[in-house]
Amino acid sequence: MKISYSIFCWLTFGLLVQMACNTSYRTPSKSTSNTVEPHRPKFHFTPPEHWMNDPNGMVFYEGEYHLFYQYYPEATVWGPMHWGHAVSRDLLNWEHLPIALYPDSLGLIFSGSAVVDWNNTSGFGKNGKPPLVAIFTHHLMEAEKAGRSDFQYQSIAYSNDKGRTWTKYAGNPVIPNTQKIKDFRDPKVIWDAASKQWVMVFAAYDHVKLWGSQNLKNWTFLSDFGKEFGTHGGVWECPDLFPIAVEGSDEKRWILLQSLNPGSPNGGSGTQYFVGDFDGKKFTVDPTFRTAVINGQALWLDWGRDNYAGVTWSDVPKSDGRRIFIGWMSNWDYATVVPTQKWRSALTLPRELTLKKTDAGYRLFSLPVREMAKRQGKSFKLPSQSLTMPIDLTAKSGISASACALELEFTPEGDSGEWVLELSNSKNEVYRVGYDAAKKLFFSDRTHAGKLDFSPKFAALVHYAPRTSKSNSIRLQLYVDRASCELFADNGAVALTDIFFPTEDFSKLRLFVTGGTGTLNSGKLFELK
Ligand code: FRU
Repeated sequence: MKISYSIFCWLTFGLLVQMACNTSYRTPSKSTSNTVEPHRPKFHFTPPEHWMNDPNGMVFYEGEYHLFYQYYPEATVWGPMHWGHAVSRDLLNWEHLPIALYPDSLGLIFSGSAVVDWNNTSGFGKNGKPPLVAIFTHHLMEAEKAGRSDFQYQSIAYSNDKGRTWTKYAGNPVIPNTQKIKDFRDPKVIWDAASKQWVMVFAAYDHVKLWGSQNLKNWTFLSDFGKEFGTHGGVWECPDLFPIAVEGSDEKRWILLQSLNPGSPNGGSGTQYFVGDFDGKKFTVDPTFRTAVINGQALWLDWGRDNYAGVTWSDVPKSDGRRIFIGWMSNWDYATVVPTQKWRSALTLPRELTLKKTDAGYRLFSLPVREMAKRQGKSFKLPSQSLTMPIDLTAKSGISASACALELEFTPEGDSGEWVLELSNSKNEVYRVGYDAAKKLFFSDRTHAGKLDFSPKFAALVHYAPRTSKSNSIRLQLYVDRASCELFADNGAVALTDIFFPTEDFSKLRLFVTGGTGTLNSGKLFELK
């Protein structure tokens, strides 16, 4: 993200106002009506009001999933960053809490992470209870404006009351920017049991830096990674480094998620990933994976344009064992001008990440968390059939097209035909998503999906994702929520997330094939509550 000088002036003004009148910081109001606000999703996380970008500090503690997020509580555009806060017991229903971290004399509060310090290595714990420790970037606008390059550095804060209130560490920053790197941000911390240390990964323009610590306060440099791997069409931001089991084996690998902006396959912000190993000092790309990520090559967590800066939850209990991810459902290409009024931006559905060994090598799969099944209301089953005529799924099922989930499995005949799921409304606005069997591409077409004129970058092109699975039948899972569609294909091998803004909610969902035929093996549509 680039922060212009005019934004800076305005930010300074905002900060002064806030310092003069501290009461202007407020808890987001709790109730918002989905029906009166156009585009407000029904089952995705949104701030009650004002601007949100990256999810931050996700940590599970005492039955609560904490979700912090980049938040500007005074306007619906990016401004002096705070950490907004919400908690959930089920990843479905979120309770909004007061702002957790405010800007201070060291700067604005940029993205970062949080951990439970189980063994009180930091000494911040109280009454035998482990503290929550947040690790974030301080961004000092005054220093940036003065032409300095060391205006970003890593700091920490702790909480002794389940994340309700936070104290910033008096010794901040814990990693100053002595190398004077302008982009030096977004720390994600994990406890590495094998090397018995906290490991921090953060982005430094075109690579990531790994640092290690025994107590979260004193850090030592471990290594750099990334200059020769992956794509570099934009600045690297918001990395995440974690171990993961290879599905169906005893093997373990490490994953590095790496957001970058711009440079994603369909334009603007996106997230690439690397599979490799971490030895307590260095991250190395897995030998079987090298060719996929060398010389500007990349593998993508999501091919759509609206899944950015996503990272995973810390401290999900071992008994659960999942790696749960959430991303910001927008793109810096147009995030600040999308046509919502009271608030801006939603997050993706929480997704479970899994690592599978495929014919092509290790690949990361993602699917919505299983908790989503609890949202299912009425359902409608499609019998197996050869698909010759369009199926009006809304008329047949009576299920709302604007908030639903669809699962389909089909077999195209002779590698031809476009399998289309089409959302439409009475204004002739249409969104199409599906699979082109001849080109072996999944696609998402929002070029006629309603409001487009807020940004020329929003819907200039149809978005594509190549199919990797070789299986004859294709499985699609779709989650539609008023202003977004998340497509998961071949059991999560491909994800494609796009947002859109119809001038009236989509009211019809149809399935059809053009330029070919094939068999619909199974289909199920769910109402999502
Ligand atoms: C990513 C990002 C981060 C930064 C934050 C600022 O979207 O640019 O790199 O910490 O947003 O809000």
